Amino acid sequence: MTTEDQKKAAALAAFDYVKPGMKVGLGTGSTTNHFIRELAVRAKSGLDVECVATSRATFKLASDLGLTMTTLEKHPYLDVTVDGADEFDGSFQLIKGGGGALLVEKIVASSSRYMVVIADQSKKVNTLGRFPLPVEVVPFGVNATAWKIERALKICNLKGKLVLRLKEGKPFVTDSGNAIIDVSIGAIPEPGRLDALLDVIPGVIENGLFVDICGIVLMGTDDGVKTFRKG
Ligand code: A5P
Repeated sequence: MTTEDQKKAAALAAFDYVKPGMKVGLGTGSTTNHFIRELAVRAKSGLDVECVATSRATFKLASDLGLTMTTLEKHPYLDVTVDGADEFDGSFQLIKGGGGALLVEKIVASSSRYMVVIADQSKKVNTLGRFPLPVEVVPFGVNATAWKIERALKICNLKGKLVLRLKEGKPFVTDSGNAIIDVSIGAIPEPGRLDALLDVIPGVIENGLFVDICGIVLMGTDDGVKTFRKG
């Protein structure tokens, strides 16, 4: 099975958690795109759902495919969000934001009764941190915010290399108009502690650690889809 096949299999397995009438959060990324395409097919055959997108890219794909879109303003409580991840560990903690959509992804997922993560098997890790942690920051004073991020790492006995994310040679701009600092750490043994320390830094909007948000992970493997459920 290719990685793409594993992503697709995980995306299809997510339909066990999607029922008619639900309000569904749609994540961002290549794995979620498989889910969105299949959701559009099923919606055409009568699966009646309303969707909230976590990025402009997802909104465009989902609405181009004819899915009924709504907003979190109209529906502040969603039934389920289906999204990918850059990493997940055995405690359902995630790193997200490789695609730059972490802020809205976190708002939408934490507004949902269930967050179902769909992923290929390469995303499973023993300890988070192999993937550089995306931190969304206000562009003003970005270097001042950066040293405060380094200080937060130090408090956690961690060291990281901070890189301002670029796109075509210019600072990457998120859908919300912010910048992203990618922090290469290697291993984050206490994600909850780092998450809390990062989020109180003035200038940090959000970070890509998802702690206590996800309860179900569907992982595509060569031997089929493995389901991990919290509790
Ligand atoms: C988007 O900002 C990310 O959080 C994605 O959900 C994550 O990068 C997974 O993307 P893929 O499904 O493309 O691997």
